[in-house]
Amino acid sequence: MRPSSPFVFYIVLSVQTLVNQDIQAAAELLRAGEVVAIPTETVYGLAAHGLDAQAVTKIFVLKGRPAYDPVILHTDQLDKVANLVNDFPDSLLALAQKFWPGPLTLLLPRSVLVPDVVTAGLPRVGIRIPAHPLTLKLLTLLDFPLAAPSANPFGYVSPTRPEHVRRHFDGRIPLILDGGACTQGIESTIVGLEDNDIVVYRLGSLALETIEEVVGHVILRTHSTSRPDAPGMLTKHYAPHKRVMVSDNLALTQAYQKDPGFAFITFSYNLGLGPRSCWLSSSLSLDEAAANFYHALQTWDENPTVHTIIIEKFPDSAQGKALNDKLRRASA
Ligand code: TXA
Ligand code: MG
Repeated sequence: MRPSSPFVFYIVLSVQTLVNQDIQAAAELLRAGEVVAIPTETVYGLAAHGLDAQAVTKIFVLKGRPAYDPVILHTDQLDKVANLVNDFPDSLLALAQKFWPGPLTLLLPRSVLVPDVVTAGLPRVGIRIPAHPLTLKLLTLLDFPLAAPSANPFGYVSPTRPEHVRRHFDGRIPLILDGGACTQGIESTIVGLEDNDIVVYRLGSLALETIEEVVGHVILRTHSTSRPDAPGMLTKHYAPHKRVMVSDNLALTQAYQKDPGFAFITFSYNLGLGPRSCWLSSSLSLDEAAANFYHALQTWDENPTVHTIIIEKFPDSAQGKALNDKLRRASA
């Protein structure tokens, strides 16, 4: 083997990636400026010291993430947010009090403590308190917030299990904290204030209807095709490598159902094609469907026989709205 081959170069740089629940080790690595994958109730994150620009930059390099895409800061207590923001408008505070810990990210005016790399130079910083017990425990050990985007290469489907993270980052990060399968399974809902209007920038686990019960009518602003305020707004995002087709009438896909190159993900009924079809929730629960969705997508994406994934459109309410939004972007 020639010492100059790219293979040798890779071996020299690779680290052993542990997968365990050692939050003390995670805390030490994070204090030292290393990147650790953490579980949340939504999806797994690639976390680093959120006030250390160099540590945050490592996340961007690992993900291949463009510098214009800001990352969310995670903490465990409302008190710890005070230093990170210049203002906490009442209506957003009401949402925080109601839904944290939980799948809600708030965009708040950043303080000088927050490095530019975190917000991509934007005037607001995204903050949330995640609801995963292991990560909450880890955060109590830290006197700084964790910057953490979803633990996937930029533009790809978010990970909901440790093995999804491992597929992309094995040998590249020292530790994946194993919090099992994510219970919510799609990303947090991103909310901010413009003038006095509550604006939703990304549909996610926390349903629009639930937010509106607390603050009344909200404005949806989830579309962007070029430089976005939030890249989750990009027309193509959350996409597997295989072709994705969306169907609102599976009866029309009968020809494809006979072809082993096509795999199916359904919500409303079991298509019954054995290993080529996945029914997301036998109890027709949108919560359960959301929790299983990214795993199903990645399972087909890994399957060498499958070239196209056909997904049944979801009912357009609660998590179904967010899932349909992900579908549109995955199939763009
Ligand atoms: O559920 C989640 O939110 C997960 C877990 C790990 O917390 N995180 C996540 O992060 O989905 P990420 O980076 O994959 O997506 C966050 C989105 C991005 O589209 C980003 O542009 C937007 O949030 N965002 C973050 N900070 C922002 C800011 N200051 N202004 C505008 N958009 C922001
Ligand atoms: Mg992401």
